[in-house]
Amino acid sequence: MEFEFITTCVENNALVITINRPDKLNALNINLLGEIKIAVEAVQGNEELVGIILTGSGDKAFAAGADIAEFANFTPEEGEAMSRSGHGVMNALEDSGIPTIAAVNGFALGGGCELAMACHIRIASDNAVFGLPEVGLGVIPGYGATQRLPLLIGRSRATELMITGGNVKAEQALTYGLVNRVVEQGELLASCHELLSKVNKKSYHAVKKVLESVNDLYNKNKDGMETEMKLFGSCFQSDDFVEGTDAFLHKRKANFRN
Ligand code: COA
Repeated sequence: MEFEFITTCVENNALVITINRPDKLNALNINLLGEIKIAVEAVQGNEELVGIILTGSGDKAFAAGADIAEFANFTPEEGEAMSRSGHGVMNALEDSGIPTIAAVNGFALGGGCELAMACHIRIASDNAVFGLPEVGLGVIPGYGATQRLPLLIGRSRATELMITGGNVKAEQALTYGLVNRVVEQGELLASCHELLSKVNKKSYHAVKKVLESVNDLYNKNKDGMETEMKLFGSCFQSDDFVEGTDAFLHKRKANFRN
């Protein structure tokens, strides 16, 4: 697939999406976000893929936020539409059905931070910087941060970050639980692939159901515990369940990818 603002490739059974506007620190214009949604939705249900890695081009930025030049003259209606379509992109990542990992290779500010938060997992390079500077521009975060950040790091820290517009560096983000680990920049993608290689040995369908159940944390119309009980039960009719339990009982390694 050909895109203007992102590149995609498959490596080690993972779709790697690279935001490709390095001269603008990978600022997220509306078309760019639309391309991410198209790329993510295009692989939905593709059982050959173990996950999606999302990163930024260059060594300075994952994404330095929504494109300020693009929205500077928006009306309230255009602003709300921008937020709604951005939410659609974030939801596409969250609902992709395979693990999405943000490989945060530098600035993850504003919409960039929100994009990373919409991924299931975040791994940061040691130069990563996270922040929600929107209040300094007279707006609030519009791609889900007011809801996702408190769930990730707690209401108090999240509120402080968003009302001060301050930044946190990689190590502090680790302390907050905003990222799973911090690695040297040169090791960032390898670290994401290594994590996915572990997932690849497990049941694709069970992994998908874990993601679905965890997602109901955010879904106020659903009861996450109820989702878990239903999905747990549904596993019992799967070939993967037969393979996984048979492998254990016969003291052999499960092979889910036959
Ligand atoms: N939207 C549009 N353009 C952006 C951008 C954004 N969010 N972030 C960076 N850019 C552009 C700059 O305008 C500049 O373009 P130019 O070279 O054509 O002038 C280019 O990217 C490089 O940025 P620059 O500011 O020169 O880099 P820096 O290293 O001095 O500063 C930052 C880096 C991240 C601190 C700074 O770019 C910044 O504060 N960006 C905005 C962050 C923000 O508020 N994001 C939330 C938006 S809601």
